[in-house]
Amino acid sequence: MSHLVLLSLAVVLLARRAAAYPWQVCGTAANFTANSTYQANLGLVAAALPRNISSSTDLFATAVVGAAPDKVWALALCRGDANATACSGCLAMAFQDVQNQCAYDRDAAIYYDPCALYYTSNATSLSSLDSVGRTNRVNNQNVTSDPGRFNRQAAAVVNATADYAAYNSTRRYASGEADLGGQFTRVYSWAQCTPDMTPARCRGCLAGLIASMPRRLADRVGARSLGVRCSYRYETYSFLGGPVMVRLAAPPPSSPAPAPAVGPAVPTPGPVAGGESWYVLSGR
Ligand SMILES: *[C@@H]1O[C@H](CO)[C@@H](O)[C@H](O)[C@H]1NC(C)=O
Ligand SMILES: *[C@@H]1O[C@H](CO)[C@@H](O)[C@H](O)[C@H]1NC(C)=O
Ligand SMILES: *[C@@H]1O[C@H](CO)[C@@H](O)[C@H](O)[C@H]1NC(C)=O
Ligand SMILES: *[C@@H]1O[C@H](CO)[C@@H](O)[C@H](O)[C@H]1NC(C)=O
Ligand SMILES: *[C@@H]1O[C@H](CO)[C@@H](O)[C@H](O)[C@H]1NC(C)=O
Ligand SMILES: *[C@@H]1O[C@H](CO)[C@@H](O)[C@H](O)[C@H]1NC(C)=O
Ligand SMILES: *[C@@H]1O[C@H](CO)[C@@H](O)[C@H](O)[C@H]1NC(C)=O
Ligand SMILES: *[C@@H]1O[C@H](CO)[C@@H](O)[C@H](O)[C@H]1NC(C)=O
Repeated sequence: MSHLVLLSLAVVLLARRAAAYPWQVCGTAANFTANSTYQANLGLVAAALPRNISSSTDLFATAVVGAAPDKVWALALCRGDANATACSGCLAMAFQDVQNQCAYDRDAAIYYDPCALYYTSNATSLSSLDSVGRTNRVNNQNVTSDPGRFNRQAAAVVNATADYAAYNSTRRYASGEADLGGQFTRVYSWAQCTPDMTPARCRGCLAGLIASMPRRLADRVGARSLGVRCSYRYETYSFLGGPVMVRLAAPPPSSPAPAPAVGPAVPTPGPVAGGESWYVLSGR
């Protein structure tokens, strides 16, 4: 009985922590101690990176500070529609927040709308960090009118935005919108990779995130899949600054009767075997 109570309490705390913006992914493998060399190295990175990123034209910065085993590898990226001031401020806040939310973790990722930060002591190179620190959020609201058509259009604009980010933007960033009509006027999308990636590697990174879309995201009005190296998001409201790069026309309605959702039924979001967690957002 007391075990059950403890367990459900733990689940509630986990869910709260996971749901609160910003979203962090705290490492679990190793800790550092107060006043250690690792903490000092992390402090050097925290002092330099927000300044360094604002002087980078693509708002991307990496840092490698110290010597093993206290070496800190860090990587930060701001969204393609952020400006240098907002980017630098976001990153300074990220270093503060993550050291509270993931106190003494040697590895952590934290995601905001305008910026993302990741650091670790356990890397052989910065380019080895393709799949670390991922997290996903899905809107709890569902499409109720012709969801099959919505699902196909959402997948199409996410795909097209990923293509544009990988192949048509040297910054590896793209924004998109697709007309719908019906329950929702449009669906808006965003995709981005770190700009050091080749087009093919960027598209491959995004394809890895997008692969679970029909299964996990059928009928959902919005979702985002966030990673250290690449991310995408779609919503039925505009969440983008700057010009729209990819536009799709409205698709024909499903006929003769509304088609069922693409793919099999969506399982309850949460941990899946061998896979990632999709946390449910109740608000926007
Ligand atoms: C370091 O990374 C390797 C490869 O990703 C992983 O197998 C190992 O468990 C990690 N070790 C720690 C202490 O995080
Ligand atoms: C790191 O610290 C946390 C909180 O103090 C503790 O729960 C966890 O077991 C520690 N992890 C390791 C690998 O020492
Ligand atoms: C770390 O350093 C601070 C400031 O010098 C000191 O107040 C604190 O007691 C130290 N903590 C540990 C665990 O040594
Ligand atoms: C910040 O940029 C300066 C100038 O390019 C460079 O010397 C320094 O190493 C960078 N700091 C970090 C932590 O990467
Ligand atoms: C930078 O972006 C922020 C947040 O969107 C905005 O409030 C600010 O006015 C922008 N600054 C400049 C110089 O464009
Ligand atoms: C949306 O659909 C999912 C999966 O069927 C369900 O768990 C969730 O409660 C639905 N959301 C609302 C607001 O009804
Ligand atoms: C998205 O792209 C993938 C890989 O290129 C393809 O298999 C899939 O059919 C595309 N989906 C849509 C809706 O365009
Ligand atoms: C994007 O790049 C591809 C490959 O280089 C090219 O074929 C296509 O025309 C470009 N699309 C746009 C919209 O610029």
